[in-house]
Amino acid sequence: MAKKIISAIDVGTTKVATIVANVKAEDDIEVLGVGVVPSHGLHKGIVVNMEEAKQSIATSVKEAQRVSGIRVDSAYVGVTGRHITSLNNKGVIAIPRDDRLVRPQDLKRALSAARNITVAEGKRVLHAIPRYYALDGQEGVKQPVGMHASRLDVETHIITASVTSIQNLAKCVRSIGVDVEDLILEPLASGEAVLTAEERDTGVIMADIGGGTTDIAVFKNGSIYHTAIVPVAGYQVTSDISIGLGLPFNIAEKMKKRYGNVTPTLELEEAVQVGLENGHSASYKDLCNIIRARMEELLQLILMEMPTSDYHSLAPCGLVLTGGTTNLPGLDELGQSLLRIPVRKGRPLTAGIYGISDILHDPSYATTLGLILWPIRGKEHSALQTKNAGVLGNFVSFFRRLFRA
Ligand SMILES: Nc1ncnc2c1ncn2[C@@H]1O[C@H](COP(=O)(O)OP(=O)(O)OP(=O)(O)O)[C@@H](O)[C@H]1O
Ligand SMILES: [Mg+2]
Repeated sequence: MAKKIISAIDVGTTKVATIVANVKAEDDIEVLGVGVVPSHGLHKGIVVNMEEAKQSIATSVKEAQRVSGIRVDSAYVGVTGRHITSLNNKGVIAIPRDDRLVRPQDLKRALSAARNITVAEGKRVLHAIPRYYALDGQEGVKQPVGMHASRLDVETHIITASVTSIQNLAKCVRSIGVDVEDLILEPLASGEAVLTAEERDTGVIMADIGGGTTDIAVFKNGSIYHTAIVPVAGYQVTSDISIGLGLPFNIAEKMKKRYGNVTPTLELEEAVQVGLENGHSASYKDLCNIIRARMEELLQLILMEMPTSDYHSLAPCGLVLTGGTTNLPGLDELGQSLLRIPVRKGRPLTAGIYGISDILHDPSYATTLGLILWPIRGKEHSALQTKNAGVLGNFVSFFRRLFRA
């Protein structure tokens, strides 16, 4: 792989993080700079105030440029929000030639047959990711080029998104002089950052519990199987604390981060009050009970988004939790006892990644790091064979045309 500088912008509901990396090889990635600033103008993953969002993105990009000494001309950008829907669809084509040899252009034809679905008004296909191929009905083929068959099926995972939401986000990025290299669904990015190859092969559910959304992805047989976005995350926890304990939102947020726990420690449970500056205080037990109730509900919502109730067969490796909200102590134990499946917390796996990467160990940065990793490594285990069959080419060119119009 040629040495290449790539950048990504993770436009989160609570923070915008820009990362600049020098990719020498898949497992030799030097992080040159990261710029993290509080996010404004976003609600549940969607831009609601263009001017504010633009400002946050611009400040984050500037900071990453300052640290890395590199100008960010283009970047991969994360996409999330309730407007995202997904389904698995099959594309079937005949191989009409006498030699019945599968060629790269056949994969493109099959993929284009698979993505030819009817989408709701105002939506477009964001990703069409090949999961595996079947040759004359024989399933599970990952690399069919060079093999013989009369019929080629491609099983794909298709993700659709609202044109308006994507357009507004892309406009914010482009208006500060940064071209959108590609759009990447955030749970795909987070999965890339926190899951092991074994988990993806065996079957695993990944949930990135951020500030505004919980981004879910199920991986099976080494590729993406299901994606979903739940518009409930850390913001709602803070809001519950604020309303439940009668505290201003920013104090509730501080209290959550400093004392929040879903399995409160007994000694503290007996101590009646926990305090913060400006004379605000609350019962530790009440604080933890409020957090626990919301997290129990959210953990159940994650399973409700699954395409089957047989979670054990779907995901023998259980649930991997990441995102800023997983900093809540005890969340993995709570998940395990409530859902009765294995649950672990996932920090970004940084093997082969070095440089200014200290903060990237925090689960809040799973998406940020994943936005760099997915374009480099993700295609490997999504059976993508050619650049043009790639993650998002069609969508990007679709909205590029829209901007020109
Ligand atoms: N120690 C902590 N305890 C509890 N919650 C925490 C802690 N640290 C961060 N959080 C919460 O994590 C959330 C932010 O997580 P993250 O940075 O992953 O979100 P985001 O990427 O900005 O948002 P999203 O991905 O939902 O658009 C906030 O709600 C914050 O309160
Ligand atoms: Mg996020």
